[in-house]
Amino acid sequence: MSQIKLVNIVGARPQFIKASAISRAIKTGFSDRLEEIIIHTGQHYDKEMSDIFFDELEIHKPHYNLGVGSSTHGRQTSMMITGIEEILLKEKPDCVLLYGDTNSTLAGAIAAAKMHFPVIHVEAGLRSFNKMMPEELNRIVSDHSSTLLFAPTNAAFKNLMREGFRPENSPPYTIDNPKIYLTGDIMYDNALFYAGLAEKKKASFLESLEVKRNEFVLVTIHREINTDDTSRLEVLIKTLITLARENSVTLVMPLHPRTVNSLKNKLTTLYKDLNNSSLIKIIPPVSYLEMILLEKTSRMIITDSGGVQKESHFFRKPCLVLRAETEWVELVKNGTVELVDADPVKIRDGFMRFINDGSGLEYPAFYGDGKTAEFILGEIIMMFE
Ligand code: UD1
Ligand code: UDP
Repeated sequence: MSQIKLVNIVGARPQFIKASAISRAIKTGFSDRLEEIIIHTGQHYDKEMSDIFFDELEIHKPHYNLGVGSSTHGRQTSMMITGIEEILLKEKPDCVLLYGDTNSTLAGAIAAAKMHFPVIHVEAGLRSFNKMMPEELNRIVSDHSSTLLFAPTNAAFKNLMREGFRPENSPPYTIDNPKIYLTGDIMYDNALFYAGLAEKKKASFLESLEVKRNEFVLVTIHREINTDDTSRLEVLIKTLITLARENSVTLVMPLHPRTVNSLKNKLTTLYKDLNNSSLIKIIPPVSYLEMILLEKTSRMIITDSGGVQKESHFFRKPCLVLRAETEWVELVKNGTVELVDADPVKIRDGFMRFINDGSGLEYPAFYGDGKTAEFILGEIIMMFE
């Protein structure tokens, strides 16, 4: 049997992490059937936003790096499409694998679908129902350009059905006769695989931060809506500073470069206050193992990240989400994630509730059995048999 050539397109931090689950599963069980070619669009490029993940998670060095870098949505995406098209022409893969909802996902979907390469979308069907978010447009276009769609939750699977995808479709699958699957979440595969290793390898990291287990709050902020709208960012930061002070709680904040840029350039005095506060630890983006150790040992999490919000569930921590809506609706229904937007009253109420009474919450298994990557690869192979 000949090998199936799969082009894997990544570009942003969460995609390196997701791709590591697929790469690991290929290495351990599918390398005789699947050949993996990695295209890095270069959307994220700082060492701590990119290389660190390839090194730590032992992902194969990208076969191609388009080096696209940061720009406006249109310019960034168009440069990616041009670069990906050239590589697909040369590589002529059997299929193209995409993750999530970034501009790298969108570029890969458009380039591949227009060249008639089957697109496989991992994390299909997620919807915020807010088309002002760039990610929502990216998801919709990517899903509707795909041939195999792997939905990580019931809600995502139902969203696809609502948009006309039919679970009863039978092979051969094509872009006009796509197949939708309900799977688990490959990020859960990773959390299970790496949690123990993080404890083993990164214990000194917690010491260097001088934080005690279960006593600090982990905070991340990076969404366009929270960083580019200065007044919103100001409200968020001021509310966090006040809550830390009033409750004598340490906040650990590994900040995305986008957030640092906005604070430095537009909220200079507040950024100085943040850095001078003894209760707030602003640190550069951390590695995945460091991050999951922080999640695992935190008291609660405050974030606008999709991935971090789910990881709060994997590590059984309550979580406030600094958005008005989420794609991971099961977490909100479960009562362990609360949507607090950028509303100081909601943030305060949620904070007080979770910090005082976070112990009796339940964390059901919403995201599969930790073997989602293997399931996905098995189905990809089936498509070619
Ligand atoms: C992107 C995704 C978002 C995802 C996030 C994960 C889109 C539209 N957004 O957002 O869905 O949640 O990645 O982290 O694709 N920057 C650096 N160094 C880097 C990367 C970025 O300094 O290595 C700065 C640049 O100033 C850049 C800004 O961050 O303009 C935003 O980067 P960009 O990749 O456009 O979007 P993210 O906010 O990272
Ligand atoms: N992450 C990390 N270091 C950090 C912040 C996040 O390794 O400093 C990981 C986090 O554990 C999760 C993923 O990056 O697996 C989430 O990425 P991000 O928040 O950038 O994007 P989103 O998930 O919102 O698209």
